[in-house]
Amino acid sequence: MIRHETLNPPPHIYPVNPWKIIETAFYPRFLAQTETIFSVGNGYLGFRGNFEEGRPTVQNGTFINGFHETWPIVYGETAFGFAQTGQTMLNVPDAKVVKLYVDDEPFYLPTAMLQIYERTLDMQSGTLDREVLWETPSGKRVLIESRRLVSLSQRHLAAISFQVTVLNDHAPVVICSEIVGDQPNQSGDKDPRQSKGFIHNPWITEDHYGRKNRLMLSHRVKNSGMVLACGADHHIETECEYSRSSSCDGVYGKVEFSVDARMGKPIQIFKYVAYHTSRGGASPQELCERCERTLDRALKLGFSSLVKEQRTFLDDFWQRADIEIEGDPEKNTRSAGEMQQALRWNLFQILQACARAEGTGIPAKGLTGQTYEGHYFWDTEIYVLPFLTYTTPRIARNLLRFRHSMLDRARKRAREVNQVGALFPWRTINGEEASAYYAAGTAQYHINADIMFALRKYAEITDDKSLLFNEGAEMLVETARLWLDLGFYSERQGGCFCIHSVTGPDEYTTVVNNNAFTNLMARENLWHAAQTVQFMRENFAEHYANLVHRTGLAEKEDQHWQEAADRMFIPYDEELRIHPQDDSFLDREVWDLKKTPKSHFPLLLYYHPLVIYRHQVIKQADVVLAMFLLGDEFTREQKHRNFDYYDPLTTGDSSLSACIQAIVAAEIGDEEKAVKYARYAVLMDLADVGGNVKDGCHIASMGGTWMVAVYGFAGMRDFGGNISFDPRLPEMLKSMRFALTLRGQRLEVKITHEKTQYTLGGGDRLQVTHQGEELTLSIGETIERPNRPPPIPEGHEK
Ligand code: BGC
Repeated sequence: MIRHETLNPPPHIYPVNPWKIIETAFYPRFLAQTETIFSVGNGYLGFRGNFEEGRPTVQNGTFINGFHETWPIVYGETAFGFAQTGQTMLNVPDAKVVKLYVDDEPFYLPTAMLQIYERTLDMQSGTLDREVLWETPSGKRVLIESRRLVSLSQRHLAAISFQVTVLNDHAPVVICSEIVGDQPNQSGDKDPRQSKGFIHNPWITEDHYGRKNRLMLSHRVKNSGMVLACGADHHIETECEYSRSSSCDGVYGKVEFSVDARMGKPIQIFKYVAYHTSRGGASPQELCERCERTLDRALKLGFSSLVKEQRTFLDDFWQRADIEIEGDPEKNTRSAGEMQQALRWNLFQILQACARAEGTGIPAKGLTGQTYEGHYFWDTEIYVLPFLTYTTPRIARNLLRFRHSMLDRARKRAREVNQVGALFPWRTINGEEASAYYAAGTAQYHINADIMFALRKYAEITDDKSLLFNEGAEMLVETARLWLDLGFYSERQGGCFCIHSVTGPDEYTTVVNNNAFTNLMARENLWHAAQTVQFMRENFAEHYANLVHRTGLAEKEDQHWQEAADRMFIPYDEELRIHPQDDSFLDREVWDLKKTPKSHFPLLLYYHPLVIYRHQVIKQADVVLAMFLLGDEFTREQKHRNFDYYDPLTTGDSSLSACIQAIVAAEIGDEEKAVKYARYAVLMDLADVGGNVKDGCHIASMGGTWMVAVYGFAGMRDFGGNISFDPRLPEMLKSMRFALTLRGQRLEVKITHEKTQYTLGGGDRLQVTHQGEELTLSIGETIERPNRPPPIPEGHEK
């Protein structure tokens, strides 16, 4: 089902460019979108793409990953075990403001006469640059050049260079650099995806001071008890005369430079900004001191060194993570160019969402918006971790360790919902379940299996035994316990192990029995737990003893997991020869998507949930996702039939769908659909396919676009850690190249229509399979193989 029609990023706003997103004019109509598109961040700190002058803005946003307020969830009618505490990532004090006045007139984009306007997000340098030539009403031509970065190498630091030159005259110029606290939080009453917020003012003012060029303020958050300090310091370079004043109360601080600007003489301000936060353990004073140290170091280093560091960090990232695609000059090069630009921007935004997410997860919107309240979902493990595991395993490891840090709360949560083992929260910041809607929240038990699936891939691809035997094994034991407790052996199903009253990934079908995705993934989780425990018992006695100590693991537990997995019920309909999404899915009435007005999507905003639930209509890939993740458990025929059945029912109302549909379409040889879905996924945000990029980036879909390229077009599969390729380069592309990091080795892959080249760029020896043929690569070696044509889709044979 393909609903969306607008698929091209507005070219007049973002001309095609392989490494840059360039806004060539100021379009107030696109203000909300561009605030997201031009976001910069490092996974700890994120700035929306608001202008330095602070206005105009739709959502002025500055976010710190995991920095949140809690609030009691109030239910009209409550029930036992409902989640109790809401969590919302806060919009923290905004330190990116630098206001400009010339002849006491404020620089304000909507009314300014602009002779030049260009804003560029440079994905190689990691900077957001803007060049504006403003002609004031009195005829003064003022050149404003700014550059902003959130440092990838210095977690707590951001910096802005702001240069003003009056080109044709002299003028009094005031540059006022601010920190503005008490920012509003997004609150969407009608759209359930938006942040619910809370009504109280969450901030308690703590230490604050202004000293010379330095500003400092700190706050404590009322309910969560978290503490934040934010500081800024400045350095000015100019030949013009100037004076400076500063002040800082609890919520607002400024350093103001009043300059007698001389014709053609630049005035350059460097603003360094530091944020430090704590869950409550460190006092505001201590955090102010940390900001002081960060600022001292930044001043010493200077802006240009920070720019250099940023470039080095990104060179390293792109060297590992880039996907280069080349369009066919005779076919649609423009669209290949767009794809390249959007793909890189997606990968760049993922990096910005997690590079320094140390001790936190990845919010569904990264640090680009408050929608979904800054919560962590399965998005991280299923959609983003594959990219990270294969390109930046350090970050993947941090994220898995972060999940482990929630294990005690997951154990507690399992007790709250009357189970044993551990149940990870469907959505959370602090480890507690924050989903107030259990049908599409808590009931998504598959989150347990998703996390364990990501762990398995990570461990196989990196060979990181330490993580597997420590944090990993402990999580495996507790999640396996949950599954064993949750399901039961059903006599009516021939003694098979059934799991009832759960919700799968498709949130348009809830609280069902035997959701195929959940059962398949739970089976995988149980097998994986049993195998790991047995392997440790036989080969790593010390680790095993440790595990027993930490989990109270009993002698035969793994055998029970194994048995439940072996006897897992997997729904299958003999007549249709498909896997029903769950026990009752096929009994429901089919939703008539063709007759549904376009204006009524996403359905969740226009129909009561019960109307949706009683139909066969799918929000996002469910069985189709299982066919990708666990592709070796389906036959080719099943893949065709399942895809053909579910695809027309899938609305794609979740951005997590298109990428998966593209991968499976590519696998079954439906190039047309593969390309269409791939374009939806890749352009999801840059072209605003879902119409809500204003609320932030869809980080999961962005991770999905890497998967579309590598699993979809390169046809990579990694079952059991064995890497195989079955390339399916679509016609619109001429070539594609990328690199993977496999057990510390670097594999470079280049695909054209005719052949594929594999090079072992670093490492020792590596085995990969190309269309069924095993290849062994030695260091530095390139092996080239022709590509067999893709299979003809069923029903299209001559
Ligand atoms: C999707 C979920 C996803 C969440 C956050 C929802 O719309 O249905 O699968 O985890 O968004 O991205």
